[in-house]
Amino acid sequence: MERKWWKEAVVYQIYPRSFMDSNGDGIGDLAGIRTRLEYLRYLGVDVLWLSPFFKSPNDDNGYDISDYREIMTEFGTMADFKALIGDIHRLGMKLVMDLVVNHTSDEHAWFRESRRDRTNPKHDYYIWKDPKADGSLPNDWSSVFSGPAWTYSPERDQYYLHVFSEKQPDLNWDNPAVRREVYDLMQFWVDQGVDGFRMDVINLISKEFFRPGEGEDYFFMGPRVHEYLREMNEAVLAGADLMTVGECPGATPEDAVAFTAPERHELNMIFTFEHMDLDGGPHGKWDFREFELKKLKANLSAWQEKLHGRGWNSLYLNNHDQPRMVSRFGDPGRYRVESAKMLANITHFLEGTPYIYQGEELGMTNLDFTHRSELRDLESHNAWQDLVEVRGIFSPEHMMEALRRKARDNARSPMQWDASPEAGFTTGTPWLKVNANHAIINAEAQLKDRASVFHYYRKLISLRRELPVMVYGEYRELFSERADLFAWERLLGEERLLVINNFTDGTITVDISELVTKEEFALFLSNYDDFAVSETGRYTLRPYEAFVLYNEAKEREEV
Ligand code: GLC
Ligand code: CA
Repeated sequence: MERKWWKEAVVYQIYPRSFMDSNGDGIGDLAGIRTRLEYLRYLGVDVLWLSPFFKSPNDDNGYDISDYREIMTEFGTMADFKALIGDIHRLGMKLVMDLVVNHTSDEHAWFRESRRDRTNPKHDYYIWKDPKADGSLPNDWSSVFSGPAWTYSPERDQYYLHVFSEKQPDLNWDNPAVRREVYDLMQFWVDQGVDGFRMDVINLISKEFFRPGEGEDYFFMGPRVHEYLREMNEAVLAGADLMTVGECPGATPEDAVAFTAPERHELNMIFTFEHMDLDGGPHGKWDFREFELKKLKANLSAWQEKLHGRGWNSLYLNNHDQPRMVSRFGDPGRYRVESAKMLANITHFLEGTPYIYQGEELGMTNLDFTHRSELRDLESHNAWQDLVEVRGIFSPEHMMEALRRKARDNARSPMQWDASPEAGFTTGTPWLKVNANHAIINAEAQLKDRASVFHYYRKLISLRRELPVMVYGEYRELFSERADLFAWERLLGEERLLVINNFTDGTITVDISELVTKEEFALFLSNYDDFAVSETGRYTLRPYEAFVLYNEAKEREEV
């Protein structure tokens, strides 16, 4: 398998609005990020992915861009950006930017012009359709943020498509001029020194209007998506050694191979949603189900096996759109520290590039809001209105519980730097409330505590640099039938790693005597400080106990 820097790297995602505020207005900014770079360097991550920092009216917190070449007013200036990227590079890290080009803001100059009439030079930059003969919507697609995906524009007597909010009109990628604009703006940022792109909902750029199907089937994985990505690759990426990761809702492992097989020259890796959707129901994420380990294991294993040697995985359990992983898959209470470390084994010991979402390295939990008015995210408010008030699909009680579990603001609350009143994030009033548990869960406390989640992450990251098997080893699942345990091996030449995770808050036993001998293997890592390798190969695992054995660990210790 070809070795690449972006396979060996660990990526850290920053949501700039919530990371660090430098001027007391309650909103994180670029100058704030700069003041925290030493912390990130100490953690050891290689790449910083910043959620969008471009000019935006912030209908969707910057995922609605009104000028791709300007910095968001609240975040600072171009000079701040230059200072930031300069420091990031000086510290030996890289910067990946968010490329949001499935849609723009409705306040983008292209859209203002496009909507004016049917003949202006940009009339075909967006997706405009006539009403049906009876005056109704062009089709019955609905928006990811609730309601129809079409909004009427009297100037043109036509509807425009918006897969997301009505302030996020979809660009018409079938128009070559639009594609040229996108490649130009990408080149602009490459010239500013960015090291790669995280591409927002990039598998939505090609749409098919007349295929029978339902909802998402229409606009995910359209017929020309691969053609466009190859063209983009040729225009901007080829020969530049940049990192690319495409956000691809609805993509299967087969799609992932098609996007990431090196010989196809499209993307380095994609973000799948399959493992994030396992605890949803027919009405999507708000129709929550209890999380089941067996489903998660089966899904992750399938991705491991199907991509090995063909494409490349990205590994994440949370981000700015998903609840906090400890609250969702672990125990945010009594076993928070143990379960956060155990979950970190999944993103760091499977094959793929690990992504850490800000605060994950502290074991941050879902936001402790008590009323939905404390939430800021349009998705949550629209969903409440649509599902509770308009269509009455869910009771207020159900929806409140759904928000508690799934609202995106769970992950967007300010970064918890210290125990001071606003967690060291701001001296003003934060745009979204700070979690009260920052008094206990914060970076300052964890830096001082060798047994903290932070230090466990630091260890995982440094081990990755030493051990090619963590990056390139082949995955083999163990005990796949068990619903309480997630275990696997990684194999590379003579090197072998064995990863055992108790996924429950109870005590369980496991017998690995047939897999390893005590002579052969030594302890590599554990999330309990008094773990001991067993003589018999039989183990009693405490709540969320996880350990990793490595067959060359002994030699390593001697060196
Ligand atoms: C992606 C982003 C999400 C945003 C949406 C529309 O899913 O991660 O935050 O709301 O695209 O841009
Ligand atoms: Ca600020």
